[in-house]
Amino acid sequence: SAESTIDTNAMTLIRFVLAEQKRFPGATGDLTVLLNSILTACKAVSSAVRKAGIAKIFGIAGQTNVQGEEVKKLDVLANELFINMLKSSFTTCLLISEENDQVIEVEADKRGKYIVCFDPLDGSSNIDCLVSIGSIFAIYRKATTGPPTEQDGLQSGRNLVAAGYALYGSATMVVLSTGNGVNGFMLDPSIGEFILTDYNMTIKPRGKIYSINEGYGSLWDKAVTEYVQRKKSSQNGKPYAARYVGSMVADVHRTLKYGGIFMYPATKDSPNGKLRLLYECNPMAYLIEQAGGIASTGKIPVLDVIPEKIHERSPIFLGSREDVEEILDLYKQYD
Ligand code: AHG
Ligand code: MN
Ligand code: MN
Ligand code: MN
Repeated sequence: SAESTIDTNAMTLIRFVLAEQKRFPGATGDLTVLLNSILTACKAVSSAVRKAGIAKIFGIAGQTNVQGEEVKKLDVLANELFINMLKSSFTTCLLISEENDQVIEVEADKRGKYIVCFDPLDGSSNIDCLVSIGSIFAIYRKATTGPPTEQDGLQSGRNLVAAGYALYGSATMVVLSTGNGVNGFMLDPSIGEFILTDYNMTIKPRGKIYSINEGYGSLWDKAVTEYVQRKKSSQNGKPYAARYVGSMVADVHRTLKYGGIFMYPATKDSPNGKLRLLYECNPMAYLIEQAGGIASTGKIPVLDVIPEKIHERSPIFLGSREDVEEILDLYKQYD
């Protein structure tokens, strides 16, 4: 019967974060309110993703964004949801979105102490073919007095207060860290709550999967070329499996769950790779480090990069410690 399936003591994400925050005497509850507004946006995006075909929001919106990509309606909808939910939470003062070429300054009467960098819809090229997509967010505290400026958003990943992603996959899941490890929460659509299902997620020291877009193989540098060749060879053991979804959230979530390595390297024509530092590389690097893995630009840890522009890109190699160390050793060799 329905009653028997309702968990009367469900560990929801908000309950989990409240308990965590209670450990900090100065905690005002603002971070919990902020996270709750992000969850509302994610639930609305999840609902739109799963009925997009019916709601006729597929197809090109006829616009292109600052990245020069065709913007699909779900991108636009997700961006508006995140901006409206974040502004109305009274906990943010500056927003940085992949879909907005300028920073978004929250109106003075709605300002709070947090800065949020977000990718409202990650994996846009996979929307129309129903392959998993996601949303990514990174939360900082404003470190200066006075009105918020772009400079306030250019903090290194070492200053992150929290980061996470929503994966709109076979189920909808939010993976989050507020600095004490990584936890995964599955959406129960019947009650609209994210329920703790993956407590204290940690990544294996080594995996058996490598993930990279092999289509650009002719553009790779020597280290990446040799590394991928090694993964394919049966000289030292069984070859690795190749898996590449093309949505960063899906590729990173698989890497976190199963181990292995995800790479988006620099290529000849994009010397800083494709993924954006503020709302793709940093939040994912933070989560992977919190889970015991490594996330590097190939030269330094991603979280150590000092951003200069809000949409700047960075090469990224992340995942199981031993797998990432192997390619970093090759970079040292070829340096
Ligand atoms: P977005 O849709 O937010 O612009 O992100 C797309 C990114 C990322 O999700 C994925 O890892 C990467 O693009 C795939 O790029 P390629 O198609 O060049 O492999
Ligand atoms: Mn994009
Ligand atoms: Mn993205
Ligand atoms: Mn995006």
